[in-house]
Amino acid sequence: MNLKDEIKSLKNELDALIVAHYYQRDEVVELADFCGDSLELAKKASSAKNKLIVFCGVSFMGQSVKILSPDKNVIMPRLACCSMARMIDSSYFDKSIDKLQTLGIKKEDIFPMTYINSNADIKAKVGEMGGVVCTSSNAKKIFQFALDSGKKIFFMPDRCLGANLAIDCGKKYSILGISNDDEIINSDVICYDGFCSIHQLFSLSDIEFYKEKYKDIIIALHPECDPSVVRAADFVGSTSQIISFVSNLDENAKVAVGTEFNLVNRLRKKNGNKENIFVLSSSKPECPTMNETSIQDLYDVMKSFSDEMPYNEIELSHDCVHYARKALNKMLELS
Ligand code: 13P
Ligand code: SF4
Repeated sequence: MNLKDEIKSLKNELDALIVAHYYQRDEVVELADFCGDSLELAKKASSAKNKLIVFCGVSFMGQSVKILSPDKNVIMPRLACCSMARMIDSSYFDKSIDKLQTLGIKKEDIFPMTYINSNADIKAKVGEMGGVVCTSSNAKKIFQFALDSGKKIFFMPDRCLGANLAIDCGKKYSILGISNDDEIINSDVICYDGFCSIHQLFSLSDIEFYKEKYKDIIIALHPECDPSVVRAADFVGSTSQIISFVSNLDENAKVAVGTEFNLVNRLRKKNGNKENIFVLSSSKPECPTMNETSIQDLYDVMKSFSDEMPYNEIELSHDCVHYARKALNKMLELS
């Protein structure tokens, strides 16, 4: 049997559900039962009947399934950590809250909101303070809920998504570590200074380049891009939303897409007319951690589980799950 057939046979033997994020390599996506954006994957995997979930993505995604469904076994071919999620941990969270308090902002006047691209300890901190999680596909709705609290929003870890949401709602924002004290005190939304290095690659000059070349080109990108770039785009959405937007365009329409390379390249293959779909960057926007997972890793992790020698299994403390689930469930109720 070849490796792909071995994986399929292990999947049947273990009654496992294999899920993959759209940024995974093609060979991994081909073997998945389900592909999706962060929200879809969290919902689908946590509500599946299968006890064993094999998650091909980055760690915070596997953790979200474990938080929502602690009785499941969640294993990951690679425990690859999203570099943005790694930018904040619980001690940075505590220091940020302390900093706001030294500026005279009371803890009870802060509404914490974390992007799902954060580790479980951050979601737990946010849940403990009565805050909420969001993903790129429901961020606007959740942000409105946070604004309705009447408190100052502390948004983490992505300063770009936080700023984009604030601008959309006509709110003042500041960035911890960059803005001065007065700007922080006077803002409605205080963003943590995290970012996605892949989405930082897309620039205004890339948009200008394509617009000069093709007058009617459409620009579609992810909200992790810089606010100046987001303002110049025609469509902004989650990975799933970008896929359906591009797939529904007229076949002659030209579109430049600002998100991870594997997703864009698959869109080019799927839509036949490759000539009309462009990567909105002069360098290859490849997420290194998403690209770590190979089908050999997928086989190895499933085989070891079958041999009762599991590894790369998501394990979280009871307290962490308890508080993180509050923040995640609040998001699910709202979306
Ligand atoms: P989505 O939730 O849109 O799939 O985004 C996840 C991500 O990591 C984007 O960089
Ligand atoms: Fe994290 Fe950026 Fe990779 Fe998404 S593309 S998983 S935000 S590093």
